[in-house]
Amino acid sequence: MDIFYEIHKDIPREGPGDNDSTKQAITMLKDIPENSTILDIGCGPGMQTIELAKNINGKVFAIDINKTFLDRLVETSFNNNLSRKIEAKQMSMFSLEFKQDNFDVIWCEGAIFIIGFERGIQEWRNYIKIGGYLVVSEISWLRKDIPEEPKSFWESDYPEIKGIADNIKIIETSGYSPVGHFVIPESGWWKDYYNPLIDRINKLRKKYINNKEANNRLDNTQREIEMYEKYSDYYGYVFYIMKRID
Ligand SMILES: C[S@@+](CC[C@H](N)C(=O)[O-])C[C@H]1O[C@@H](n2cnc3c(N)ncnc32)[C@H](O)[C@@H]1O
Repeated sequence: MDIFYEIHKDIPREGPGDNDSTKQAITMLKDIPENSTILDIGCGPGMQTIELAKNINGKVFAIDINKTFLDRLVETSFNNNLSRKIEAKQMSMFSLEFKQDNFDVIWCEGAIFIIGFERGIQEWRNYIKIGGYLVVSEISWLRKDIPEEPKSFWESDYPEIKGIADNIKIIETSGYSPVGHFVIPESGWWKDYYNPLIDRINKLRKKYINNKEANNRLDNTQREIEMYEKYSDYYGYVFYIMKRID
């Protein structure tokens, strides 16, 4: 098995986030139709998909390229009696197979970095009805005085990382009106994401004690976690809620 999947399989989430933040963002959607059509992009194992289906009337289409995550979501939907409200499909965020102007809400927690913030909000806009919403969470600088260590770490991992004001400027010039934004709490990084990853790293260190390649991968994940432990005042995951205006 690919070491990446061994590190990541069967953990509650695949990126920072928590149900309270998902619910907080849902409360910022005003006047959506009674029977909304929602698209959750890069759903992973689908913790936020379940929350969307529980809190919004309508149908949630959840897409990801990873079949194992989608299978987990199908099982969790069934266990929560939500199978009728959630449809999981294997599909890439780079080539959405839906009609234009189709969705009341497009949602993407912790996955827009894969296509890039600016490209994602511009391309996905075509699939949202005019007056509909796009909600994304994206790693963002929280201050201007970023120390060199996290700056070079994140700029080499994700060169598109920006501050909140710069992301809002992109939203405003991409055919949306910004509705609001908020930073997820630090607990949203630890509880369902980094803490389970730390346990997994400790187990895999024992399994792969003499495997240099596996240990390099484990070192990379551990370094990311240590970076956040040290510099969480400087960057965070930010929810951006925006409305398509034309
Ligand atoms: C950081 S995880 C976030 C998952 C989930 N939203 C969460 O918060 O737990 C990113 C997800 O994007 C998926 N992904 C990667 N490339 C993709 C692509 N081209 N199209 C759709 N999903 C993709 C991964 O399989 C993974 O589930």
